[in-house]
Amino acid sequence: METVLSGIRSTGNLHLGNYFGAVRNFVKMQHDYTCFFFIADYHSLTTHPTPADLHGNVKQVLCEYLAAGIDPETATIYIQSDIPEIPELYLLLNMIAYVGELSKTTSFKEKVRKQPENVNAGLLTYPVLMAADILIHKANKVPVGKDQEPHLEITRKFARRFNTMYNTEYFPSPEPFNFGHELVKIPGLDGTGKMGKSEGNGIFLSDDAKTIEKKVMRAVTDSGPTQMNSEMPDSIKNLFTILNVVSTPDTVEYFKEKYNTCEIRYGDLKKQLAKDINSTIDPIREKISEYSSNPDYLRNIAHLGKEKARASASKTLKDVREIIGFNAF
Ligand code: TRP
Repeated sequence: METVLSGIRSTGNLHLGNYFGAVRNFVKMQHDYTCFFFIADYHSLTTHPTPADLHGNVKQVLCEYLAAGIDPETATIYIQSDIPEIPELYLLLNMIAYVGELSKTTSFKEKVRKQPENVNAGLLTYPVLMAADILIHKANKVPVGKDQEPHLEITRKFARRFNTMYNTEYFPSPEPFNFGHELVKIPGLDGTGKMGKSEGNGIFLSDDAKTIEKKVMRAVTDSGPTQMNSEMPDSIKNLFTILNVVSTPDTVEYFKEKYNTCEIRYGDLKKQLAKDINSTIDPIREKISEYSSNPDYLRNIAHLGKEKARASASKTLKDVREIIGFNAF
């Protein structure tokens, strides 16, 4: 079986975009591949969380992975900082990563622009740590969003460079996993761009029903179409994109028809949307809170994941050390 690996940075609660764009697909893949899904808590350090926030955020993502349906017996769920082999591989990869190529990465340049007061070296080497995450399990496929594809390309570059330098075929070339039509990008509720953790336009899996209703009712719309069958503006298209993933085809058709005949009432559309988002999220929200109040279970799951992930990681690291020439006396 091929190996699939992906991770989510623990920087806050997961939103609908994370769920439909990533986690729901993880759940579908877990039986067809050897899967590793982890919580990227080292990566979250680039923004300097407090110790309490750091731990709370890791716990939250762990509960959310489980609540969404990732089976910890089938897939391996683990916390990045539980695996010392990852930072060791990161150190080794840093020696074949060039400052020039790292400083040209789009995500790095964006951080320099957005947070000039905190351009730490961890931001520069963020793609090296990500390459270590992926190569430590010799992953073949990495389900990530479009924004992460440049990082994956760097990972492939490092894998090739390592192989060439040491005249080996050791690392496979990890490819982005693309779900074809199934990959949905969930837009934000502010009429522009995609849903984000920090953009203030998101619906979180942990939001309660009332909050979701309020957020949806506040979503940006316009005054409605005045011509039959007119093109939808982005803000309305966005609401339909979300409706498409949470509602029945009949419901979607009904509102499309209303739109095309200029009879649509956005209030009705939003009420339906909020209701259907809630029926999607209700069971997940309930499970999140169940897991969250069961520290013994979470400890067991984290332990199990750590053992399974370390078994795979330590094998890779042993090989890599040998290839590089660290021989025992
Ligand atoms: N950088 C990814 C993000 O922000 C998270 C991540 C870290 C990741 N390491 C990874 C994703 C390895 C896939 C594989 O979304």
